[in-house]
Amino acid sequence: MNNSEETKAHLKLARLVIRLGVLVFVFSILWLLQNSLYPTIFEASTEIVRIDSTAIEEEYVPIRTLDSTDVENGIHLPTGLIVDVGCQEVMTTCGACHSLDLVTQNRATRDGWKDIIVWMQETQKLWDLGPQEDVILDYLAKNYAPENSGRRKNLTNIEWYPLN
Ligand code: HEC
Repeated sequence: MNNSEETKAHLKLARLVIRLGVLVFVFSILWLLQNSLYPTIFEASTEIVRIDSTAIEEEYVPIRTLDSTDVENGIHLPTGLIVDVGCQEVMTTCGACHSLDLVTQNRATRDGWKDIIVWMQETQKLWDLGPQEDVILDYLAKNYAPENSGRRKNLTNIEWYPLN
């Protein structure tokens, strides 16, 4: 290596170091800016969210249709749920912990469904459903009501015992 080649190599290295330095500097300025601005942005946005969510609570509009091609004869095939107002809410909320078979295989009145929800809240860590509770209860009470065919079906496979 002659002298001029060595100088060139040094210069190259120096330029690289300077570029890296500039990059680090720019990023630390950005980082500082972001950190000092973040609290105000954050406060501002939680404020907005809080106001928005009370607005939503007052006029919660249930989702009417499932945006899905999986619906056949009014049944959402992947879950088995009857497609109706509130179906989407039941799917996301009630499907979070267990199969929706637990829903589709049960029948209850509105009060009965409410009891099931309260039971899950007390024993299974189900959260407060907020404004969705009414939507969910309406859906369940309408679509999974006790089957009322006038009179119950005849009992089968019963071992009768003689009355004395
Ligand atoms: C936080 C979790 C969680 C969520 C969310 C949840 N459940 Fe459950 N649920 C459970 C657990 C745990 C069981 C007991 C499962 C078992 O016995 O295997 C259960 C059981 C049930 C049962 C059967 C009750 C019985 O008497 O055997 C029904 C019906 C039910 N859930 C309906 C719902 C409905 C409707 C929703 C939506 C509003 C819902 N679940 C949301 C946790 C949850």
